[in-house]
Amino acid sequence: MEPAATDCELVESIGGLDRLLAGPRRRGSRIGFVPTLGGLHGGHGSLIETARRDNDIVVVSVFLNPTQFEDPRDLARYPRDLAADRSFTARAGADVMFAPSVEEVYPGGPGIVTVDPGVLGSVFEGAARPGHFRGVATVVTKLLAIVSPSSAYFGEKDYQQLVIVRQLVADLSLPVGIVACPTVRDPDGLAVSTRNAFLGPEERRAATVLHRALRAGKDAVRAGTSDANAIEEAMRATAEAESAVALEYASVVADGRLEPLSTVAGDVALLIAARVGAVRLIDNLRVVR
Ligand code: PAJ
Repeated sequence: MEPAATDCELVESIGGLDRLLAGPRRRGSRIGFVPTLGGLHGGHGSLIETARRDNDIVVVSVFLNPTQFEDPRDLARYPRDLAADRSFTARAGADVMFAPSVEEVYPGGPGIVTVDPGVLGSVFEGAARPGHFRGVATVVTKLLAIVSPSSAYFGEKDYQQLVIVRQLVADLSLPVGIVACPTVRDPDGLAVSTRNAFLGPEERRAATVLHRALRAGKDAVRAGTSDANAIEEAMRATAEAESAVALEYASVVADGRLEPLSTVAGDVALLIAARVGAVRLIDNLRVVR
């Protein structure tokens, strides 16, 4: 049964958000924050539910941030349905949906000062999407400044984004806790993503190979393989058996980091990216020993 919708206030301006949060802030209430691009699904829902459990007030932002889309076609086709997102946030138990316009967040255009994630922003997804993580790091910093939450919630689904957000909060001394939430998957293993809606039926079936390849890599780690190349080969062989899928990378890194490993010791994360038709998908699996 669907949970009953709570009251979820829609706020479109920074001033409006400040007025709404002034009382809770004064009382020292815990404010949990879930930033999103919209097109809300079960992955976002689990972040909101976790924030609901830990906080007095839950704020969800729905902001399709143009500065992190290096491909204008990707931005153009991204779902925008504020009414659907609002009923989703209400059902998931959020108190406030903050949905500012681009002008509200970037008055007068993108700013001159941006947040550079350094080398963390130029590998893996950053190599495929130049400028993407600068846009992410900048908007996350701005949203944290606007909302000023006690804790902010991010999905492990976007492993590299999570690593970058943790590093930016540490390096810029931002007074916020970052909470990582596990990846929500469909029953067949495909990680839930807004982009899955663009897959045709055959592509949707083929896309499950990302998870299967990660499982193959995990099996190799569990079997005691310490050669990272061999683990990556196990992932690659599984992915390449699916002809509809063009593998971009399959890599092993130390858990919480982004440098490729040659020898596996300790906890690791397996990272994968592939194109399925016109859709680029990413996934990852942590192997914690
Ligand atoms: P978006 O893609 O909307 O994702 C918002 C949050 O939901 C991210 O922290 C993401 O990791 C998490 N998420 C997405 N799919 C998930 C899944 N299947 N399981 C668990 N969590 C999942 O990531 C962004 O937006 C943006 O880059 C943003 C951080 C909002 C900055 O604009």
